[in-house]
Amino acid sequence: MKFKRVQFNHYGSASEMYMGEYELSQLKPDEVQVRVKAAAINPLDWKQRRGDMKLFMGRQFPKGIGSDFAGVVEAVGKDVRNIRPGDEVFGTMDVKKPGAFAEVAVTASRYVVRKPSLLSFAEAACLPIPAATAWAALLLGKKPVMENSRVLINGCTGAVGLMAVQLAIAKGAKVAGTCSEASMQTARAMGVHPTFNYADEQYGKHVKPFDVIFDTAGTMNVGRAVSMLKPKGMFVDINPTPRRIIRGLLSRRYRMVFANMGFKYLPEIADLANQNLLRSAIGLQADFSKAVSTITEFEKGQRTPGRVVLNF
Ligand SMILES: NC(=O)c1ccc[n+]([C@@H]2O[C@H](COP(=O)([O-])OP(=O)(O)OC[C@H]3O[C@@H](n4cnc5c(N)ncnc54)[C@H](OP(=O)(O)O)[C@@H]3O)[C@@H](O)[C@H]2O)c1
Repeated sequence: MKFKRVQFNHYGSASEMYMGEYELSQLKPDEVQVRVKAAAINPLDWKQRRGDMKLFMGRQFPKGIGSDFAGVVEAVGKDVRNIRPGDEVFGTMDVKKPGAFAEVAVTASRYVVRKPSLLSFAEAACLPIPAATAWAALLLGKKPVMENSRVLINGCTGAVGLMAVQLAIAKGAKVAGTCSEASMQTARAMGVHPTFNYADEQYGKHVKPFDVIFDTAGTMNVGRAVSMLKPKGMFVDINPTPRRIIRGLLSRRYRMVFANMGFKYLPEIADLANQNLLRSAIGLQADFSKAVSTITEFEKGQRTPGRVVLNF
């Protein structure tokens, strides 16, 4: 049987994407097959298609695209115990094998958990990569955020930023953040105080130093950020460049974090969502049939105040 998905035959620009058909291969013992109901767009999707991760992803084509999804389990491999057919779940894909912008997605069972009943499929699809990344950035490592920690989140109203704000607040931290003028109201409504406009080059000059600065946008000057930290504070980065990686190797106050470090905490993330402590902000919902044009527009820089979700 054939299913529709967004796929590509060469690494490259948005024009490489098309709505194609693919056939499922035999389910591996640890895999689950999910009928996708909603999938959320992340910047990772076009980075993978562009070839930024081709060293890991290899050269077998066509390849699917998309990571974060929610849906209903159709089948499970023989070793899967935690999930059953019929379960409503959300989850993500292995970074080497994207393919959530598809009628049916197949992924390892460790990347899938039951959907919080408080959330719709669309809301649940917004959680995996942003929340797992924020979890790894703030709650793991030598300097986890705790009650009364002073935290600055650069890009506090983006997908990762909003998850980071909520996780830090759930831990009792005091959260400051940067965003554009247009997003100030959203940031304040989420409990971010003070809020700085990232376009103001002098922002944060007279504020008390932070325990943790989390740069979700990859735009902070690392030296400046470190100067805004307490002596044992930590700067956390999620946008690796060769320069930043070298900087990180030279400093004990710098951590580079990847989403996959947080995937094993998806059950805890689901619990927080069930307690209404983690919410997703959706800016636009589009039908799956419009996936290619929707991804292309957002890759080009179209903005909404919230996530972009494809509904199936
Ligand atoms: N290492 C990993 O595993 C990992 C995981 C997830 C994401 N990422 C990367 O992290 C980045 C953010 O991801 P996302 O999903 O949160 O993206 P997003 O939803 O597009 O959010 C980006 C945020 O950055 C803000 N921003 C733009 N220019 C800025 C500037 N000069 N200074 C401060 N903030 C600025 C934007 O604020 P306004 O909208 O208010 O302008 C927006 O809120 C992407 O590059 C993504 O690839 C890496």
